[in-house]
Amino acid sequence: MPAFTAAHLLVVDDEVPLMVALRNTLRDEGYRVTGVTSGAEALEALRQDTFDLVLTDLMMPAMNGIALLQDALIVDPQLVAIVMTGHGSIPTAVEAMRTGAIDYVLKPIKLSALIPALERALTLRRLRLKNAELEKRVRERTAELETANKDLEAFSSSVSHDLRTPLRTITGFADILLGHHAKNLPPEVRRHIELIHAGASEMSLLINGLLAFSRFGRQALHPEELDLERISREVWQELTAEQAGRDIELRLSPLPRTQGDPLLVRQVLVNLFSNALKYTRPRAPAVIELGWLKKKDGVAAVYFIRDNGVGFEMRHAENLFGMFQRLHHAREFEGTGVGLASVRRIIERHGGRIWAEAAPDLGATFFFTLPPFAELATVAKSG
Ligand SMILES: Nc1ncnc2c1ncn2[C@@H]1O[C@H](COP(=O)(O)OP(=O)(O)OP(=O)(O)O)[C@@H](O)[C@H]1O
Ligand SMILES: [Mg+2]
Repeated sequence: MPAFTAAHLLVVDDEVPLMVALRNTLRDEGYRVTGVTSGAEALEALRQDTFDLVLTDLMMPAMNGIALLQDALIVDPQLVAIVMTGHGSIPTAVEAMRTGAIDYVLKPIKLSALIPALERALTLRRLRLKNAELEKRVRERTAELETANKDLEAFSSSVSHDLRTPLRTITGFADILLGHHAKNLPPEVRRHIELIHAGASEMSLLINGLLAFSRFGRQALHPEELDLERISREVWQELTAEQAGRDIELRLSPLPRTQGDPLLVRQVLVNLFSNALKYTRPRAPAVIELGWLKKKDGVAAVYFIRDNGVGFEMRHAENLFGMFQRLHHAREFEGTGVGLASVRRIIERHGGRIWAEAAPDLGATFFFTLPPFAELATVAKSG
């Protein structure tokens, strides 16, 4: 009894008695078998019904076995095929296998050779079906995820927008109370209004962060060749202008040219340098270094920004990149916890990776990669 009793076979041979004999023998073996005598009939049968395997003669008038296979695999890419051939035409059988046949059997057909070949081919058929099913499921899940992500994006962006107006009302009226009426207010009431004002300001920062984060995810990438060294110097200058009185040293190695969206990559540097400056505040001197390493493949570079600041424990290293995740208390280091989530989103949109290494009190290093330009161009197109 064959393992695939339910398997549906299509036998194709232009010599009617041969086809009939083979069809009946295979039926006796327990297969479901349909027999036809030309390529055209075979294709018609394949369009009408589902078959697991085609067993076809190679030499047939009008449409030979190879032409039939080519068309049959278009109708059903998971179909498996075995060709039947005489001793004289083994090279043609080899050509048939290049076209997609799994195996060939020699004429006159011996059942002892045919059955094992059929069973092998049917095992492959089963694997192909499973594989196709899995691929389909992955495609469906990916599409579902993409839709869910888009919905979530749209939701958070519209909620953030909608929250801004009432928030402006709260800060606006708190401002008026603290400005014009402050002297008429008992100190405790004034303190409460100040707290309302501070809370609303913080919420406004969070909302702006959320909006920026969602913008980094949606805005189209415009990759171009970048001079990371120049951008870094510009960013550094802007940021350190607000750090008067601090003893800060920047160590900037010569950097290879890279590719990316200039505005988004600039934002990555702004966020990472801001963190480095913020979390080295207790240090004098603060030493911040931007360098790079060659990746093993020799093409892409790994960039890093290292500081000698307060650092953190490595078990938190993955969490930092989540939205609103903070390790340090706002009393010590202000912030909303949006910076690194945005950085990760930008780097991943470029097809790169980001990770961190740190130790408490010994500083932190953030590593990121940007892919070579050719790859990036494809990311940008598909993204
Ligand atoms: N260079 C660093 N050294 C030590 N801790 C860091 C460093 N960079 C980030 N962290 C930790 O990771 C957390 C998340 O960083 P992230 O930049 O996302 O937020 P933030 O700096 O707190 O706020 P903001 O949204 O204003 O950037 C920080 O709160 C801090 O605890
Ligand atoms: Mg930050």
